[in-house]
Amino acid sequence: MNNFTYHNPVKVVFGLGTLKQAGEEAAKLGKRAFVVSYGDASVTGTLANLKGLLDAAGVASQEFLEVVPNPPIEMVARGVDAAKAFGADLVIGVGGGSAMDAAKAIAAGVLYTHGDLWNMVYASHSNVTAQPPEKALPLLLIPTLPATGSEMNMCSVVSSTTRGQKSYIWADCLFAKTAILDPELTYSLPPFQTACGAIDAISHVLEIYINGQDESDLLHAWQLALMRTIVENLPKALANPQDAHARTELMWCATCGLNGWASPGDAWTPMHQVGHVLTSRHGINHGSSLAIVMPAWMTYHKALKPARYAQFAVKAMGICPHGKTDAELADAGIAAFRDFIKASGVPVTLGEKGVAEADIPGIIEGVRTVSFNADGVLASNPPVTAEALAEILKLAL
Ligand SMILES: [Fe+2]
Repeated sequence: MNNFTYHNPVKVVFGLGTLKQAGEEAAKLGKRAFVVSYGDASVTGTLANLKGLLDAAGVASQEFLEVVPNPPIEMVARGVDAAKAFGADLVIGVGGGSAMDAAKAIAAGVLYTHGDLWNMVYASHSNVTAQPPEKALPLLLIPTLPATGSEMNMCSVVSSTTRGQKSYIWADCLFAKTAILDPELTYSLPPFQTACGAIDAISHVLEIYINGQDESDLLHAWQLALMRTIVENLPKALANPQDAHARTELMWCATCGLNGWASPGDAWTPMHQVGHVLTSRHGINHGSSLAIVMPAWMTYHKALKPARYAQFAVKAMGICPHGKTDAELADAGIAAFRDFIKASGVPVTLGEKGVAEADIPGIIEGVRTVSFNADGVLASNPPVTAEALAEILKLAL
């Protein structure tokens, strides 16, 4: 097992109906809450309930409902100005990863003293000139889409429309003080968002499982259990959106998939680096981008770790191992995973999103610009060269 340092200070309030604790939890953190969310109907009811709870707890609030997917730094800057004008002493993020990540960036941006807000962002893995924020207003995060795990980690993924890049801010001050995880808030999620969120959550675990350290029994068992739980419960949530058990399992799996428990001692997220470029260059939503990358990536790499892929097939995808070699199990597991993604209504090929072979060099260049390390490769186990990435992307066509 790799050495690691683990620190996670987020207070988690979890369970059906826990939104009603938002007022009292907010009051412990501040008196003037800047509420960051979307301007569409998906969160209208939750925001109305939250406003009532904040009022009752004596917390003044102002909504900022300009969040869009892949939150652009320019939107974050408008939020920072509005939060300052309001005199916010607390930021509440309500929504999926984009709302929570925007809330984090705004909370840090209000107190940022190193110039342009894009300076907070690790815009290139080979260029460490980023100046991450050291301070942020207290954060209360209320996810309504189980996916990114942002509610319990120190990362904020943002974009720059002018630069055509998507990357991340990574800083201790981005940990929320409190996260309220109420699975009831996910009952009204559309099926496609539910599926994309679940597949994103799987990807956070899968890419550590297959690209991370080789010697960690408990870690691999935990990763497989997380993936299996999502594979079992996504179809139930799609069949019955108000399935409390399925919604509860999916929500906690998403949080546990990216709060550090599934990746102690591992830091690489190579498939996400490719997914981010598919988003920034081709407008493919985050969950779909990973759904496209994962099966192709696994097909390319399966022969390197046949036992690992066989375990994925048996323990995550439920393939019967009887009479099959590890290589046969690996193939069956990847095929079952691809079918699982398809059945949930999410694309599994670049072609479905209008991306052709001629686009591959541009995608590789995008990955190279942001994510290749000083050795000219994408950090992974094993490292991925530009040539290997081209083969993977061809497999994804
Ligand atoms: Fe993700």
